[in-house]
Amino acid sequence: MIIVLIGYMASGKSTLGKILAKKLHYNFIDLDDYIEEKENTTISDIFKTKGEIYFRKKETYYLNDLLNTKSKLILSLGGGTPCYSNNMQTILKTNNAVSIYLKAAISTLISRLKNEKAKRPLIAHIETEDELAEFIGKHLFERAQFYNQAETIITTDGKTESDIIEELVLKLF
Ligand code: S3P
Repeated sequence: MIIVLIGYMASGKSTLGKILAKKLHYNFIDLDDYIEEKENTTISDIFKTKGEIYFRKKETYYLNDLLNTKSKLILSLGGGTPCYSNNMQTILKTNNAVSIYLKAAISTLISRLKNEKAKRPLIAHIETEDELAEFIGKHLFERAQFYNQAETIITTDGKTESDIIEELVLKLF
């Protein structure tokens, strides 16, 4: 089975994915890390030198590649992955995959992202917290239609990592 974790930037996909993988004895892959490894560069550099459209093509290509996995895998996507190129449909149509949306409130995302902008090209240029809040609010509103198609939705606000993992395991098995 492939457990696909989706959600906005800083929603905890990689952190929780790693913990879940250890607990379930699954392999763990973060799609952004996989792209960086395969392309031999950073996501920021891809955006800078080749542009977002090129990044989205590669993202779709490697997503499809990983969805062919037959072994036990936790796959954490990038925040935008489900929102481009029919990727959400592809995930939903993959028989051995289950999708989980890690849903976090805008206030949670703002407080995490204001300190983690640098390696995220979509928000790296945003200077004030007000502008960041406005950007995230609009962006999340546009993306929610994709995230909400996930088979399981878990709200993460006010929960500890172990609460969320326990809830995930209960929903999955
Ligand atoms: C993106 C999210 C990033 C990364 C890229 C674009 C997005 O991943 O894929 O910077 O469009 O939301 P994280 O969600 O891991 O930050």
